[in-house]
Amino acid sequence: MPRFAGGGADFARRGGQLRVSLTPRCQLGCWFCHNEGEIPPRITHHDRTIRPRRRALDANDFLTAINTMTAAGISRVFFTGGEPLLSPLARPILQGLPEHEMSDYTTTLITSGLTLTKDLDWLAATALDRIKVSLHYFSDASIAAIAEGKPGDIAKIKAGIESAIDAIPIVELNLLLQEQNAHEVMDIIAYARELGTGLQIIELVDTDHNQGLGGGKVPSGDISAYLRSIATHGEVITSGTGQGRRVFTVPGRNGSMTIEVIDAALGRHHVGQCGTCPAQPHCIEGFWALRLDSAGELSPCLLRPDLRLYVAPYAQDPAGLLAAVSAHLDAFTEGTLQ
Ligand SMILES: C[S@@+](CC[C@H](N)C(=O)[O-])C[C@H]1O[C@@H](n2cnc3c(N)ncnc32)[C@H](O)[C@@H]1O
Repeated sequence: MPRFAGGGADFARRGGQLRVSLTPRCQLGCWFCHNEGEIPPRITHHDRTIRPRRRALDANDFLTAINTMTAAGISRVFFTGGEPLLSPLARPILQGLPEHEMSDYTTTLITSGLTLTKDLDWLAATALDRIKVSLHYFSDASIAAIAEGKPGDIAKIKAGIESAIDAIPIVELNLLLQEQNAHEVMDIIAYARELGTGLQIIELVDTDHNQGLGGGKVPSGDISAYLRSIATHGEVITSGTGQGRRVFTVPGRNGSMTIEVIDAALGRHHVGQCGTCPAQPHCIEGFWALRLDSAGELSPCLLRPDLRLYVAPYAQDPAGLLAAVSAHLDAFTEGTLQ
């Protein structure tokens, strides 16, 4: 597909990422989960009368949107959920991804890792560049405390991570700091170093659904101090969209590896719409990701579902989609959306 020059949504200039939620469903019920803006599984598991929005896009619709937005300059696409590998659309979408250069854009699957050993054969044959496994726990007891998971899951998750390393170009881990895993954070860092996978350490993003739940949030300062003590190099990145982050190069298997720490204290990126936003006082994430979900809506902000754009009517109309998204984003960054 040709790259759109001017007049398009100009994602390259805006930076940020496209997060494509393939399903709101998940086997786990993590207490903190923002579910990319949909009602979290923790709630739907316990109250069957509360249901997520209905699916409005099929695999071809998702692929058209992804190909259109990468052609217009989006350089990072994440497949998320819910648990994306639970979606019947995961396989046709990931198998339908075109071959591409990582210098043009990257595609990353974010997963709990629970079904990785089963899914790796077909995943390895796709154009997926990276798998990012959420590892917020290092024992079955912590899975129970954080995610309401089934006993025995940690062995399955670790087996999935270790098999993925041989099958997928890049494998990374991500770890959300919280009181429930404070006793396991050093084990998870050591595990990532043993495997030589990258690790991203994140702080809690508050939403209406997780506020007041699950114990206090843990800031990243102590972990950054430890990483600084073992790092051969460190830098702070505050430019671009999203929250500021600290990037440490540390010794690991095969030489050196990167551990990145998202640090809310470094600030975040706000645009025009944020100026008058009532959610701004508790906004952690800032303007960072465009979220496309299976209900066919595209959201420039996790905390403002009222500012979603319904894109399903453009499912097979790349030019119409690009024009609609571009106008919506322009209005969002200028602060003129109602
Ligand atoms: C919503 S999950 C969905 C993908 C997959 N099921 C998983 O377990 O990674 C995607 C990512 O969002 C992160 N996440 C979810 N809720 C969050 C919150 N409140 N603050 C920060 N990160 C969060 C998760 O840790 C995970 O890395």
